[in-house]
Amino acid sequence: MSSLFLAQACFFGYHQQRQVKAAAESIMKSPARKREPQTLTVLGIETSCDETSAAVVRDGALLSNITATQLFHSAYGGVVPELASRAHQQRIVPVVDEALRAAGVEKKDLDAIAAVYGPGLVGSILVGLSFGKAMALGLGIPFVGVNHMEAHIVSNLIEAPKPDFPFVNLTVSGGHTQLVLVKGALEYELLGETKDDAVGEAFDKVAKMLGLGYPGGPLIDRYAAKGDRTFVKFPRPYLEEGSLEFSFSGLKTAVLYYLKKIGFQKVQHRVVELNPEGYEEFLANVCASFQAAVIDVLVDKTTLAAKRCGVKDIAVAGGVAANSELRKRMQQAAEYFGLRVFIPKFEYCTDNGAMVAMVGFLKSTDGQTSSLELTAEPSLALH
Ligand code: KG4
Ligand code: ZN
Repeated sequence: MSSLFLAQACFFGYHQQRQVKAAAESIMKSPARKREPQTLTVLGIETSCDETSAAVVRDGALLSNITATQLFHSAYGGVVPELASRAHQQRIVPVVDEALRAAGVEKKDLDAIAAVYGPGLVGSILVGLSFGKAMALGLGIPFVGVNHMEAHIVSNLIEAPKPDFPFVNLTVSGGHTQLVLVKGALEYELLGETKDDAVGEAFDKVAKMLGLGYPGGPLIDRYAAKGDRTFVKFPRPYLEEGSLEFSFSGLKTAVLYYLKKIGFQKVQHRVVELNPEGYEEFLANVCASFQAAVIDVLVDKTTLAAKRCGVKDIAVAGGVAANSELRKRMQQAAEYFGLRVFIPKFEYCTDNGAMVAMVGFLKSTDGQTSSLELTAEPSLALH
């Protein structure tokens, strides 16, 4: 199948989902037989936000993972949904082609195609989802719809060392903050989540207040490394005693009030001219203080969840899992409590096709496939 065919298939799937129904029925009526993992090659597609990514997993081993990041959103201070969706349409064909080429796999070798159907930005999800369904239909192989939050959890099962079941997983991304008990492969219990802002969102908003740019997480991480975490005593939002829920909007507002109180805007202009070093030091100290408040809460609630569930392994996933201080503090806490901590490599923390291909592989080996009528669910919950 040529790239042109793939592009046409994507277009076809995107605009005429209803008309594929009849042709799809033969595939849907014959759900995948349970297959031996040794014979299964799965393509995974991720387009839920601003990363166009595709990966190939064979026999449970990752063969390739190709990600095209949409850097242009930084000029707008955040992801612009319409632009993200258009960029996915331009990139999906070359990204999938490259994932197959890098894996040394031809389309005819694929046994299933997996793509994210939620949660995320609806226009972005639709591109990868329609493309994946159309490609599965064209190749006559099963399609597997993947929950993006499940994929983040599974990012800890891509490469060794892997946590043992059951384990507690903390997912911290731009859109979500969740503590989940992972009871077994594809078996989850939600323990707690954020009532308002996600952690990554709080990082991005505080970075914006400080004029640092987007995405803010990596910038705050870098500044905080040089700062004094005791410079400002920001509140730690623990909520009621023993709660495994999160809330970060109050902390974000506390940073805003602090900056207003000290007249940050005025200082910014005056000090930058006269004393650039002092200004950099000030930014570093505020970043370190904010980051410390977030990390105290994340680490304490994750270790509390592990104790309460009686598990020995904890895992961290999602874009914020790339944070250097969070990685260090989680490791220290784990050592203190006699737990093991697992955090994926950077490329599997932020959105990636590898985690989607791995869920596709696990579901396919379990005989779980999806209807080609599956549609995007922007607010899809973890179940
Ligand atoms: O998982 P992800 O790539 O996309 C979503 O599903 O949201 O996470 C993106 C989020 C952004 O908010 C970004 O600022 C944050 O992850 N992030 C970080 C770091 N790297 C990315 N936050 C803190 N420290 C980092 N090093
Ligand atoms: Zn994500």
